[in-house]
Amino acid sequence: MQLSTRHLLGIKDLSPQDISLILDTATQFKEVLQRPIKKVPSLRDVTIVNLFYENSTRTRISFELAEKRLSADTINFTASGSSAAKGETLLDTVNNILSMKVDMVVMRHSASGAPQFLARHIPAAIVNAGDGINEHPTQALLDAFSIREKLGTLSGKKVAIIGDIMHSRVALSNLYLLKKMGAEVTVAGPPTLLPKYIKEAFDVNVTYNIQEALNWCDVANVLRIQLERQNQPLFSSLREYNLAYGISKKLLAGLQKEIVIMHPGPINRGVELDSDVADSGQSIILQQVENGVAVRMAVLYLLAGKRSESA
Ligand code: CP
Repeated sequence: MQLSTRHLLGIKDLSPQDISLILDTATQFKEVLQRPIKKVPSLRDVTIVNLFYENSTRTRISFELAEKRLSADTINFTASGSSAAKGETLLDTVNNILSMKVDMVVMRHSASGAPQFLARHIPAAIVNAGDGINEHPTQALLDAFSIREKLGTLSGKKVAIIGDIMHSRVALSNLYLLKKMGAEVTVAGPPTLLPKYIKEAFDVNVTYNIQEALNWCDVANVLRIQLERQNQPLFSSLREYNLAYGISKKLLAGLQKEIVIMHPGPINRGVELDSDVADSGQSIILQQVENGVAVRMAVLYLLAGKRSESA
C-alpha cells in the first residue's frame, strides 16, 4: 500500500486509509526499535535536511533519530546561526540546500503555511514538523498511535482535548485525525482559549467545565498554555488558570474511572498539569515521546516510497 500524498503537510490532507497505513507501519518500526540492533537500511540512499526555524526538543531529536534508525543521511539546520539572520529568504535557503542533492525536507516554522508554500515551489518531499498555529501532523499521529496502543482502537473512544485550543497546532491536527478515525471529541478550557468556530467545524462537544470533560472521557490530552502566541492576556493569571483548569491529583481522584493522561510537551508543570499527575501511572507522556520515533520512521519510509514511485 502507498500513501495518497507526496508530502505530509497536515492531517487535513490524509485519508483514514493513509492514517491507518502510517500507524500500522509504525507498529512494525516499533518492533525494530525493541531489537538489540535498532537500525534498518531502508533509507540508505536518501538525504534529509531537518530545517528548524523554531525551537524544538522532542520533534527535532525524534526526527533525527528516526532518520538515523532508517540509515538516511541527515543535515541539521537551525535558523539561528544560519544566513537566514542576514535576510536570506526561506525559498533561497531551501533551494541552496536542495542544490546539494537533498531528497526530503523536515520543516518547523513559526509561520502557518510555510511548509505548504515550500511544497508548491520545490521538488523535494516536505514533512511538516509544526507550522505556526496550523498543524503538527506527526504529533497527532504519535498521539493516535499511543491511544491505539493503550486502548486498542481509536474508533468510539472518547478524547478530551483540554486547554489552549486557540493557539495549538497539536489541537487542530488531533481534531482532524480523531474525527477521521471515528473517535468522539470534547474540547475544554476557558472560553477565551476555545475558538468559536470549533463546534460546527469539527462536530465536537465544547465545555468550559474541566470536571465535566474529565468525567466524560477515556483519554485527556492536556495542552500547554502558549503564552508566546498570546499578544494580550486571555486569562487572569497562571495561578488562577491552574485553579480553574489545571489537572490535579484531587480532580482525578474524584472521577468514577481511571482515565489516560497525555500531553505533547513541553509541560508547564503546576499550570495545565500538576507534577504528581504528569509523573503518575495514568500518564503516558513519555510513551508518547518513545512512540514518536517509530511514527516518524513510518512517515519518512512511506514518503520515500512515493518519491521513488514518481522518479
Ligand atoms: N511536542 C513538541 O512538538 O515538542 P517540541 O516543541 O519540543 O518539539
